[in-house]
Amino acid sequence: MKKLLVGAFALSMLAACNAGEDHLSNQEDTDALTSGSAVTQRMCPSEDIRKEALANNPTLMAKFVENESKTAKFIDDLKMGRVLADGTVEIPVVVNVLYRTSAENISDAQIASQIATLNKDFGGTNSDVSKIPAEFTSVAAGDTKIKFRLDRVIRKSTTVRSWRTNDAMKKSSSKGQDAYKPANYFNIWVVGDMGGVLGYATFPESAGLWNDGVVIAGKYFGTTANAPYNLGRTATHEVGHYLNLRHIWGDGNCATDFVDDTPTQQDKNFGKPTYPQYDLCGGVNRSIQFMNYMDYVDDAAMYMFSAGQKSRMQAITNASGARSGLRLY
Ligand code: ARG
Ligand code: ZN
Ligand code: CA
Repeated sequence: MKKLLVGAFALSMLAACNAGEDHLSNQEDTDALTSGSAVTQRMCPSEDIRKEALANNPTLMAKFVENESKTAKFIDDLKMGRVLADGTVEIPVVVNVLYRTSAENISDAQIASQIATLNKDFGGTNSDVSKIPAEFTSVAAGDTKIKFRLDRVIRKSTTVRSWRTNDAMKKSSSKGQDAYKPANYFNIWVVGDMGGVLGYATFPESAGLWNDGVVIAGKYFGTTANAPYNLGRTATHEVGHYLNLRHIWGDGNCATDFVDDTPTQQDKNFGKPTYPQYDLCGGVNRSIQFMNYMDYVDDAAMYMFSAGQKSRMQAITNASGARSGLRLY
């Protein structure tokens, strides 16, 4: 539709040029100036000059049409709230609730609490941001400019008592629920139980595939009474993966997470470690960032993404990133 409109606009410009009318009035203006008479009206010939150039140069015309089309697309994104004025991307979220018991059919309020937590944690407005040690405040992400908007909740009763991490919950054919337009919507499946697993995620190479998204056990989804996983940070951690973040220890001994401002650490951390903790990697003893969402500590002990992690997430959600589809609807 947009393309057609721009095309029509381009054609009308050509038509005006061929008729030569603007040429004439332009010539009159010029005559008025050169004849020494006083300037009584402003004159800017830019568009007239442009019309002639576009009419005579198809490459220039193609570039013009492309520029107008891109501009219209960006403004449309702004209007629709897909990209906010400050560059924030708002990701539409679909929550698929699979329940066997009524307790597993979590409330709208619990779902809202999870969306709110994601927006706080990714916006750097979480109340515990003040706990970030001074050593790491200069590398804290602050606002990642990634937001979440609940688009719809899909509820489905199932006979499954306990799920495994084999994606069965993502298919109707295995008593689960098919993803809702995964290329354009971020799907979350909330299930009753996955044994010892709180949640798991797909990474951006799976963008748009049938199994793309995040799975979370309902007990740990949103603000709950299930300490120490009661603050909705399982989703914060899994969404980090969905947006291309790796575990802070790089899933190996002193391995890399491809992020410069998260100090290399030996392994995952659990519980509520006291600051500072040191890890020896490659002969260097470093104070580690165990309070990062991408470690394994308790919900109350994690409260930051780093600036480097923010860059990775923005790379994935920007207009040419693997998850740019989340910007289109
Ligand atoms: N996939 C991890 C697990 O199931 C998520 C850990 C999240 N950590 C947290 N404090 N919520 O253990
Ligand atoms: Zn993880
Ligand atoms: Ca690192």
